[in-house]
Amino acid sequence: MSLFIKKPLDQLMAQAGDSEKGLKRTLGPWNLIALGIGAIIGAGLFVRTAAAAGEAAGAAVIISYIVAGVGCAFAGLCYAEFASMIPIAGSAYAYAYVTMGEFMAWVIGWALVLEYALASATVSIAWSEYLNKLLGGAIPYQWSHSPMETSAEGVSGIMNLPAVFILFVLTLVLIKGTKESATLNAVIVFVKVAIVLLFIALGWGFINDANYTPLMIPEGTPGHEAWNRHGWGGVLGGASIVFFAFIGFDAVSTAAQESKNPKRDMPIGILGSLAICTLLFVLFSHVLTGIANWQEFKVSGKEASVAYAIETYMKGYEWLSLLITVAILAGFSSVILVMLMGQSRVFYSMSKDGLVPSVFSELHAKFRTPFKSNWILFIFVALFGGFIPGSMAGDLTSFGTLFAFVLVCLGIWVMRVKNPEAPRPFKTPLVPFVPIMGMLVCGALIAYLDGFTQLVALAWMGVGIVIYFIYSRHHSHLRKQNP
Ligand code: ALA
Repeated sequence: MSLFIKKPLDQLMAQAGDSEKGLKRTLGPWNLIALGIGAIIGAGLFVRTAAAAGEAAGAAVIISYIVAGVGCAFAGLCYAEFASMIPIAGSAYAYAYVTMGEFMAWVIGWALVLEYALASATVSIAWSEYLNKLLGGAIPYQWSHSPMETSAEGVSGIMNLPAVFILFVLTLVLIKGTKESATLNAVIVFVKVAIVLLFIALGWGFINDANYTPLMIPEGTPGHEAWNRHGWGGVLGGASIVFFAFIGFDAVSTAAQESKNPKRDMPIGILGSLAICTLLFVLFSHVLTGIANWQEFKVSGKEASVAYAIETYMKGYEWLSLLITVAILAGFSSVILVMLMGQSRVFYSMSKDGLVPSVFSELHAKFRTPFKSNWILFIFVALFGGFIPGSMAGDLTSFGTLFAFVLVCLGIWVMRVKNPEAPRPFKTPLVPFVPIMGMLVCGALIAYLDGFTQLVALAWMGVGIVIYFIYSRHHSHLRKQNP
């Protein structure tokens, strides 16, 4: 039997329609937009903006945001067509099963683990850092860092306890139910957007135009010799760093089976949250690099960069810094929540297809959530959150996401050629131009990631392929039905 056995579209649709026995349909368009914003605005905006400015793009980080945003828009348009056409939990994995066959679906599903599980781990680590800042450094170094980190004083980390703690609490919330999680998420999103807007509005008056000249890091700047660390190369290098900030709009598509009217609301949720966030990111990065000089983000302003800029340059607004720290903590929680939910829904779909064990699709009798899957996932993610440094997990997340984006773009094109007649409530415009551009931009961003990340990600994918051949291939329901 071929590796490229495809799940028939009508079979998938029947599965999606069979929601009585499955996940509850409780989410409307605003819940979906909130779900998207909840997953998008997080460590990327509040941590990676300054990192991209200091390391690669300088004040031109605003252009990096536009480049990354354009790549995401191409991919988002493709996601929207699939999500409205095949409204089923599992997102890119499910789309690949119909268009490119089981093996590619498995490969995407495996890459999505890098995206969702590692993104939750990355953000839980950032959460721990900000909590410690709020508590004035009260948590001892060894209990707030991984064993792979050592402080300037030579203290080694043992385990990142706050990271594990927040993952545990949010796993409990998720098990309680999607509706409850969505309500909590909506409250957090409101706080998060309000704080970003407040920073933009109040910070605008403190912009020093001199910080924008030169806009890009000039060639010959010490420490910026590499081709992707100055000038236009630096702007693109910056784009692959801030890409992390956009991750999450695609998570909306993993909730398709819990959406009340997925055909109309999926494109609204995906493209709406992406558009709102892109606008906020561009304004935010403009203000941040206008208040403080990009050079400062290499040293003193490297960590809690937003709080640093306020405390250093916005005299009289120290209260804003405290408020922002609290909002960031809440904001990170919603990112983790949506990412954990996305991961459990991808596993739910893969398990329904027999590619991962059935424990991943067992629903709680009362809450109708895949609670066992949530617990297994908690253990897996907590191992990363507790014992691995954040930077490692962050870049791997970007790899997994970009890889999935490239394949989703390819899938839209394949589907248009192979199934031109299938009903498409939302159509990606200008096919194949938009999917090709999506593949090119996202492919280029993968090329700009560092070599170590690429190596680890390839090893991860290799392990996935071995598992496919020793387990999934033999348990696939589709194969059992078509021996
Ligand atoms: N976009 C999410 C964040 O920035 C993953 O935290």
